[in-house]
Amino acid sequence: MTRSLTYDQPDERNRLDHMAQGVIGQPLDRPDGPAKVAGIAPYAAEYLVPGCLEGVLVTATITKGHVEDIDQSSVLTMPGVIAVISDDRMTARSAQGGAGKAPVQQVRNVQYYGQPIALVVAETFEQARDAAKHLRVRYRREEGALTDQHSPDAEFETTDQVVQGDLDRAMQEAAHSVDVTYTTECHNSAPMEPHASIAQWDGDRLTVHSSLQMLKYNVKELADAVDLPPEKVHLLSPYVGGGFGSKLGISVEGVAASVAAMELGRPVRVVQLRQQVFHCVIRRSETTQRLRLAADAEGRLIGFGHEARVSNLPGEKFAEPVTQASKFLYRGENRTLRIDLTRLNLVTAGSVRAPGEAVGMQALESAMDELAYKVGIDPVELRRRNIPERHPSKDIPYSSRKLEECLKVGAERFGWDGAHRRARQTREGEWWIGTGMATATRVHNLNEAEARVTLCPDGTAIVASDMTDIGTGTYAVLGQVAGEMLGLDPKNVLVRLGDSSFPPGAGSGGSWGAPSTGSAVFLACEAIREQLARRLGCTDEELTLKDGFATAGNRRVALPDLLQGEAIEEIGHFEEGKTAEEFSAAMYGAFFAEVAVNAYTGETRVRRFTGAFSLGRVLNHKTATSQCMGGMVWGIGSALTEEMVFDARDGHIANPDLAEYHLPVNLDVPHLDVVLVEERDAVASPLQAKGVGELGICGAAGAICNAIYHACGVRVRSFPITPDKLIAQLPEV
Ligand code: MOS
Repeated sequence: MTRSLTYDQPDERNRLDHMAQGVIGQPLDRPDGPAKVAGIAPYAAEYLVPGCLEGVLVTATITKGHVEDIDQSSVLTMPGVIAVISDDRMTARSAQGGAGKAPVQQVRNVQYYGQPIALVVAETFEQARDAAKHLRVRYRREEGALTDQHSPDAEFETTDQVVQGDLDRAMQEAAHSVDVTYTTECHNSAPMEPHASIAQWDGDRLTVHSSLQMLKYNVKELADAVDLPPEKVHLLSPYVGGGFGSKLGISVEGVAASVAAMELGRPVRVVQLRQQVFHCVIRRSETTQRLRLAADAEGRLIGFGHEARVSNLPGEKFAEPVTQASKFLYRGENRTLRIDLTRLNLVTAGSVRAPGEAVGMQALESAMDELAYKVGIDPVELRRRNIPERHPSKDIPYSSRKLEECLKVGAERFGWDGAHRRARQTREGEWWIGTGMATATRVHNLNEAEARVTLCPDGTAIVASDMTDIGTGTYAVLGQVAGEMLGLDPKNVLVRLGDSSFPPGAGSGGSWGAPSTGSAVFLACEAIREQLARRLGCTDEELTLKDGFATAGNRRVALPDLLQGEAIEEIGHFEEGKTAEEFSAAMYGAFFAEVAVNAYTGETRVRRFTGAFSLGRVLNHKTATSQCMGGMVWGIGSALTEEMVFDARDGHIANPDLAEYHLPVNLDVPHLDVVLVEERDAVASPLQAKGVGELGICGAAGAICNAIYHACGVRVRSFPITPDKLIAQLPEV
């Protein structure tokens, strides 16, 4: 049976606080952890498939134009080479995910440098790679759009706009104001596991092991791309080595492997080379953000402007939603928020961890810091004074919002001294020392989800959904929800994920995985509880389930005795509803950072970093904390080192690997102090839990930018804040 719920009304029952097992929130280890550490959890490319051929993608070496000829004879005589496939079914770029449709593009119509144009298939990987390098391709070149990405000269179309009151006038009337422009550069998602697929033809069904976040959509995308009915496509992604948005949609290697397997009648594996992950998956758009903040004498915002320019390939719909948090975070009755999109011949821009807030908050929170200096108040106090009563444009209430508590708790943990802040006050040897803070926020999203829960005759349970665990802890958390509801040690709950033949979960995206798929598990468990209660002759409310026993009044029965050899199986189906429109629901937090800036070299070191976060009920303290830490590490990268560097002549990426694209490594990251501020949010989900995964990055880089200014008195408005930009403005030593 299926138990369905459309979330039209907050579920105030708060059932999870009244269950007996007591495993919700516990910092339990991830059950998949030991398998991953031991190397026995297979990733997409790691299946031993007899007779598997190896494919290597060939990518375009022009900015824009047409592939006039692919000279197959240049490689077909090379050792082991089986075929060269260049077929329009090979979607030339990653879909956004969610559309359920693969992007339609002709593979020979080149739109950016690095676009896949062919697949070389051989008996071994080395043979395929060698042949891919030797494949002769003739192009007809056209002029591509590669203008300076931050230049205002390009043509823009407005994709999103909020205009309310008169911002220009508010700026004139303001007692204090800032009008500043920040820029951020393109980011790569850089998951540890590159995009990889093995496709094999099983009778009339195509089975594909692939590294993906959203199987229910990915099945449709792949089926659409290779022209098969969705029921003939079977996707498997039980373990995913990070995605960060880049695996929301199918990628070209999965389609190429599928086409090759269908044509050649043998299994085919295609693994994207690391350089290809950079060149042809997706990028986070660069942004140019003008922030106009108009405040009264006490720092209360009367005007708020956030206007962003972003880019994408011609024809792509996605525009980095830079102003997402600006819509609800702070007051300011006169508002202008806008996103303008320009077209560039660079790899598709798409969702990268916390699309919108990740870059929007880092610029906004830096501008807020500038305003705090102008007003002459503690930047924490500036935030506090600007927390609105109701959503500033929609006039709807907020769901639980512990921003003020996070500011307070974070400040205390960190030892924040907000009084009389002036830049360039502390020097230790050759280092300028400073501190900075920022608000964190990210919208709370839900997505339709199903999960099947089976209570087996032996009193153990199985949870199954096509939901993925991209390193976020889904296996652990879903086991805890089922364990709590059914009174089982999570060790006795087997969670099975990442198989498209299971009921369609929410997928891993938009931080909605745990609250959405977790709610589906919750609903299925409620249905099972009712059946158990009936068998015991009591109501669900009278039923206590703990440690495999059902208790009501003076009766206590072991689950196997109650089940009498029968399994109980239920499907939970959860869908977002009116709560999403009637409330502004978001996660909140606060960052506090201490940095040292070298007075001679301009090198910045993050010395301390505290984050206080409220994200609804915490389902697993360890996995939630880890997600926040991961976000803060991204914040360090965004602030100091990460940028995709495009060659201005042809748009090729000059740093397409993990040596030259500078992600923070151990020595760049200090001890991260994360504190979770507990709350219950009935608007967010029946679990009263919100999303977690993306909050920790949203604003983190702003705190570091602000600490740099406080340390050395240099305000760098172009991220990443690399030593060259600081040296140019550092005072004489
Ligand atoms: Mo996320 S960028 O929605 O995977």
